Amino acid sequence: MASKSVYLETFGCQMNELDSELVAGALTGLGYRFTTAADDADIVLYNTCSVRERAEQKVWSRLGEMKHRKNDQPDLVVGVLGCMAERDGKDLISRMPVVDLMCGPAELDKLPELLDNAVRTKASLAESDPQVAIRRSAKQVALQGNASRRSSTLSAAGDSLESLDLGRMISPVDFDGRRSAYVRITRGCNKFCTYCVVPHTRGAEIHRPPEHIIDEIKALADTGVVEITLLGQTVNHYRFEHDSAVTLDGVVQPQKGRAYKGSHNRDSFAGENTTTFADLLYRIHEEVPAIQRLRFVTSYPRDFGDDVLQVIRDCSRICRFIHVPAQTGSDRMLKMMNRGHTISEYYEFIDRCNEYLHQPEIGRPLMLGGDIIVGFPTETEEDHELTKELLIRSKYKNCFIFKYSPRPGTVAYDKIPDDIPDEIKRRRNNELLDLQTDISDTIAQEQVGGEFDIFVEGLSRREHRKRGTEVKPGSGMVGITIGGADPNATLAVLDQDISEPTVQMSGRTDGDLIVFFDVPTDAVKLPSEYIGQIVRAKITSADKLTLSGELI
Ligand code: 5AD
Ligand code: SF4
Repeated sequence: MASKSVYLETFGCQMNELDSELVAGALTGLGYRFTTAADDADIVLYNTCSVRERAEQKVWSRLGEMKHRKNDQPDLVVGVLGCMAERDGKDLISRMPVVDLMCGPAELDKLPELLDNAVRTKASLAESDPQVAIRRSAKQVALQGNASRRSSTLSAAGDSLESLDLGRMISPVDFDGRRSAYVRITRGCNKFCTYCVVPHTRGAEIHRPPEHIIDEIKALADTGVVEITLLGQTVNHYRFEHDSAVTLDGVVQPQKGRAYKGSHNRDSFAGENTTTFADLLYRIHEEVPAIQRLRFVTSYPRDFGDDVLQVIRDCSRICRFIHVPAQTGSDRMLKMMNRGHTISEYYEFIDRCNEYLHQPEIGRPLMLGGDIIVGFPTETEEDHELTKELLIRSKYKNCFIFKYSPRPGTVAYDKIPDDIPDEIKRRRNNELLDLQTDISDTIAQEQVGGEFDIFVEGLSRREHRKRGTEVKPGSGMVGITIGGADPNATLAVLDQDISEPTVQMSGRTDGDLIVFFDVPTDAVKLPSEYIGQIVRAKITSADKLTLSGELI
């Protein structure tokens, strides 16, 4: 079959970005070509998110557009991957016959086969009767349904999805200038917060063997990657039992007093056959020295032992940034959300984090990040005030604030009416945003005069605008390039057009603060050569969330 071109668009979280990258790698290995032009593609795939309704609406509107495309291109294959496929199940195809293929997030290893079937089915339909091909879906479906959760212990042991991570295309020959990568350590979630669709779409929590994780990181480091972000829905729950190969919730998690395996204070608790999150961080830090920055998201406020904090403190290349959502400042809401902790336990945790890790005197202040859901059912003004207190006390460097969005299939959707009117949600949302902006601003101002190690990511947005080049939303780091910008293009333009004496670049502190700084263009070093390096800079000014500094 001639090489088919694929357009892949990703919605939602970092886990989805990684899934898209892995899927694209697998398909490229099979001869598919990726294109940034949706209009020219033979295959259009959407990797979707179901966490909030808004994310789903975007995909519905994309699918609506595809309906018209099919009239001109009867053999076009349209696929929905990810959480929305899993959540909507086969209803999605009956509602939208334009969809030929659906693949849930826990079934992505089956995508190549499904896609091949869909392409063949479509091609033969289009050949025999284009009108039928336009109307009829190729109906290739892989969803886990509820089956895997019921038999999670067994299915986890033969976790076929791990083949997706293991098959990651890592080739030094194809080195694309990328310096930053995501690595999954845990998939799924067992927490069942009442508002959240993730445990239903991504299935039971499964932890990858540490050897696989470390091998993957070594292979990435060999290609030039220097920054790794470990991914898990509740990343600190990582725990691998070497004899049973599987860990599910319910096991005793590391708590205060336990020491990680690299610690001098090891106690008998550590358990030779268990790799905890602290042990994993320590092993990566020790075994892959080429990794200059090690990050992890997202943390769950419970079960975050002192052992993890000690590892972060003792290992210089582990970042001092913890994204640890609280969702609300009200105990009553926490209970209704089934978060499994109280607000005072949350405060105890962030106090403990600060006690271990906040060291501004050596240029390493601890930065915290959060998520808030505003307008959860029955939320009163009093609850809302408690959330404001939470923001003030937690001093997040940044905090995402989401209006509650009822998700079918969750406990909250079924049992708790969404009774907060949208205008109240909006008003509370704006109040929290304003408050957080002030807090972020204060934190930024506090950094002025400080000296930091900055991991250089690329040209600043301003420099991109000046040159008319594209910049990815979010981090300036050249990330996933499927259907996106070619990182080589970014590197190439960087050293051109340097008529001015300096170029503005951007990077991040190990506490995840963005810093802009100028590099000279007349020196021996080209601007692109700074990317992926760590430079030392002094912060000279702060404006809202962005810091400006100069190299020292
Ligand atoms: N409505 C609004 N926000 C939600 N989140 C998860 N589910 C919902 C929902 N139903 C938010 C939480 C979570 C983040 C990833 O998304 O804050 O931490
Ligand atoms: Fe969703 Fe709660 Fe699991 Fe996070 S911990 S993914 S909010 S169920």
